[in-house]
Amino acid sequence: MEKILIIDDEAAICSSLTFALEDNFAVKSTTDPLQALVWVKEEKFDICLLDLKIGQYNGIEILMELKSIQKDLLVIIMTAYGTISSSVEAIKKGAYTYLTKPLNKEGLYSIIEQALKYQKLNRQVEYLSKELENKYGYEGIIGKSPLMKNVFNLIEKLKDVDTNVVVIGESGTGKELVARAIHYSGKRKTDPFVAVNCAAIPENLLESELFGYKKGAFSGAASDQIGKFQYANHGTIFLDEIGDMPMPLQAKLLRVLQQKQVIPLGSNDPIELNLRVIAATNKDLKKAVEEGVFRQDLYFRLNVVEMYLPPLREKPQDLPLLFQHFIQNYNAELNKDIRGLSEEAQECLLQYQYPGNIRELANIIEYAMLMAESSYIQVTNLPLEVQKKSSIATFSYNQNPIESLVGLSIDKVERLLIEATLSRNEGQRKKTAKILGISERGLRNKIAKYKLNE
Ligand SMILES: Nc1ncnc2c1ncn2[C@@H]1O[C@H](COP(=O)(O)OP(=O)(O)OP(=O)(O)O)[C@@H](O)[C@H]1O
Ligand SMILES: [Mg+2]
Repeated sequence: MEKILIIDDEAAICSSLTFALEDNFAVKSTTDPLQALVWVKEEKFDICLLDLKIGQYNGIEILMELKSIQKDLLVIIMTAYGTISSSVEAIKKGAYTYLTKPLNKEGLYSIIEQALKYQKLNRQVEYLSKELENKYGYEGIIGKSPLMKNVFNLIEKLKDVDTNVVVIGESGTGKELVARAIHYSGKRKTDPFVAVNCAAIPENLLESELFGYKKGAFSGAASDQIGKFQYANHGTIFLDEIGDMPMPLQAKLLRVLQQKQVIPLGSNDPIELNLRVIAATNKDLKKAVEEGVFRQDLYFRLNVVEMYLPPLREKPQDLPLLFQHFIQNYNAELNKDIRGLSEEAQECLLQYQYPGNIRELANIIEYAMLMAESSYIQVTNLPLEVQKKSSIATFSYNQNPIESLVGLSIDKVERLLIEATLSRNEGQRKKTAKILGISERGLRNKIAKYKLNE
């Protein structure tokens, strides 16, 4: 039960407020502000109802004293008609809001409810920021799920040795981030980290990019050009999308790795290499080997240690931390001051599946922050795609879900229910019909009726 503290110099007000609130809250009241300060030092309250005019005391000073004892105490000022200006001053000094006397029960309850919701979000934000500070992560990689803890352990073990690593994971799971973390936390950190996207460079250029060339090696080679390998010497070369490397080049890469030297095109002088190789792929390399599109010998050479990065949907525990992480990042970048997500928006984002993983999540947060008009991101600020995938969250998030439907027609509710159930089941009609207790044919008709497949 949340705790409410009432401070008013009129005993009658103390007792009538206590009477109005005590069924739902743990209430303590006093006419003596000094007594109140003693209590606040002893126990933690959630909300304080404070009269600004309390006998010989200055209410603003009491307010400041209360806040200095307990920073997250929400103080609601009770003010008589005509003293609004002092209430405004109180808000500047940290009061949550003010109410004008005489108070009615509904008004009081709705303000308290709103204040508690606000406080809950604030406490959550505080908690998450602390967790982030406590380094729930490694070198900017955020995560506390067991899967990510394994990743951190592995990075720790690998950072100071030269073992070849292949990082495997779907798009946007942080493969490059992990490769950089290995490099920048290890002994080679003062030498270059050079990333090569094997899929993005045209096949005929990849060789010259990687190995470099001498002037005149081919038409267009107007001067000597250092290759990525040489450039990365003493540091780390990151071969991204290695699964897309053409077969002939795979043979050449293997030779470089075996001999630890590279010969630029058109040159006879090998360059000795001392570097670490980290490769990444979103493909199943073993399968590629079986299919004959990836060399087995190269596979064995690169894949001494395999590091698997789980897709986001396999580590939902990390979501709240990641939300907070990206909100902080984009606050700085976009010059915003977003505190967090509304409960509904958070729920919506927790339900979403993130086919594009963390990159997609980052984009969603950035978008929502651009759209947000208050200090908490609302469901309506999220991309439609995300809202649609978890439509249930957009209308049923009161304590009593049925209550929030009052005012809608039966048809509208039916439509919402079908839409939400379909989306929960990823569009599978058979499953959806079964849950709804109707035939598949019936479901099809309703989908057509409500135009849900448009
Ligand atoms: N655990 C994490 N904590 C914080 N940010 C992360 C995390 N994982 C990924 N990111 C961020 O998500 C984005 C995508 O990460 P990255 O580029 O490393 O993914 P990738 O696996 O290489 O993706 P692709 O296969 O599409 O190249 C980057 O902005 C990265 O900083
Ligand atoms: Mg990448």
